[in-house]
Amino acid sequence: MIRTPVLVGLGAMVPPRVVDNEELSQRLDTDDHWIRTRTGITRRHWAGPGTATGDLAVTAAERALRSAGGGPVDMLILATSTPDHPMPATAPGVAARLGLGPIAAFDVSVACAGFVYALATAAGAIAAGIAERVVVVGADIWSTRLNPQDRTTAVIFGDGAGAMVLRAGAPDEPGALAGFDLGGDGTFKDLALVPGGGSRGRSEPDGAGKPDGTGEPDGMGEAGGIGEADEYVTMRGKEIFTHAVHRMGESSAQLLKKIGWSASDIDWVAAHQANVRILHTVAGLLGIDRARVLIHLDRVGNTSAASIPLALTDAAAHGRLAPGQRVLMTAFGGGLSWGSAALTWPPIQVSDVAA
Ligand code: ACO
Repeated sequence: MIRTPVLVGLGAMVPPRVVDNEELSQRLDTDDHWIRTRTGITRRHWAGPGTATGDLAVTAAERALRSAGGGPVDMLILATSTPDHPMPATAPGVAARLGLGPIAAFDVSVACAGFVYALATAAGAIAAGIAERVVVVGADIWSTRLNPQDRTTAVIFGDGAGAMVLRAGAPDEPGALAGFDLGGDGTFKDLALVPGGGSRGRSEPDGAGKPDGTGEPDGMGEAGGIGEADEYVTMRGKEIFTHAVHRMGESSAQLLKKIGWSASDIDWVAAHQANVRILHTVAGLLGIDRARVLIHLDRVGNTSAASIPLALTDAAAHGRLAPGQRVLMTAFGGGLSWGSAALTWPPIQVSDVAA
């Protein structure tokens, strides 16, 4: 019997501060109509000073563990691109604060596709007998990386965290993950990028070591140093949009073929929540009714690695997901990276995202 990851707990959270389109319109050259019609977003939540990604991750994981009815855990994987520190990883501190004991805990950095990658990593650990019960968390605080002058990124991103508890089980159980498809293309790494804060953009006090923009080591040494703006996320939105539609559509189709499901078998699509137009276009490519696509971004924006578990928690809390229904997850983000996963929905209880 193949050891299969089975979903037994789900939880999520968003920080309390709501930032609506009106608030952004007061300081940026944008307006509620543009944001709603071009993205589908009406508001998002931003963490306040003193709140880090690890804090959101702890609350989401606590809720997922409660939903799972407690029990031991022997691995925690945190998908994030906005960790508490460059080193160490954020996951061990999250596991410690949850009182999970001296377990394996590590971060996975795959931008908005991170949660699907973390799920696949957990599935591999379970299948290989390395872990029995794994907490998988997606958490990001992109509000700390937003250039206050950049209307393109400011309107899209929100902060949040979502978590699942998986246990080793059998493929025919409700909650069983049916399969994965993962992919990436680093030739487009500049489409969504935080230029500074890593080893390529050294921050010597005299300014030496700033990369020259070629992305090659021989560019090191140019004067200028790392400025505040290099710590902000830059995004070529239109190009990302095109890749996102293409890759999520193709990855979903590949996965369905691999596991022998057809588009008409899918009850719900839980896709990365970046832009409602992307979600509707992907549904169209797959031949799935738009009404089957979970929409949560209208209230939380693009929460990056948190967006799929947040959307699922919101839908489950509002009674939209019924046990036995088939759910397709698909995500796309910086890297470029993408991935899809599928499962049959289990009989689990969750509390509201904002509760
Ligand atoms: N308010 C008003 N006008 C705006 C705004 C704004 N907030 N943002 C851009 N515009 C303007 C542009 O300047 C442009 O004006 P122009 O025609 O005078 O030049 C016009 O609107 C159209 O700009 P586009 O970039 O073509 O707008 P588009 O319809 O593509 O929407 C958006 C932009 C929302 C960013 C969209 O491209 C998108 O959602 N892209 C995908 C983002 C994504 O998936 N990100 C996830 C990856 S990031 C990660 O992994 C961390």
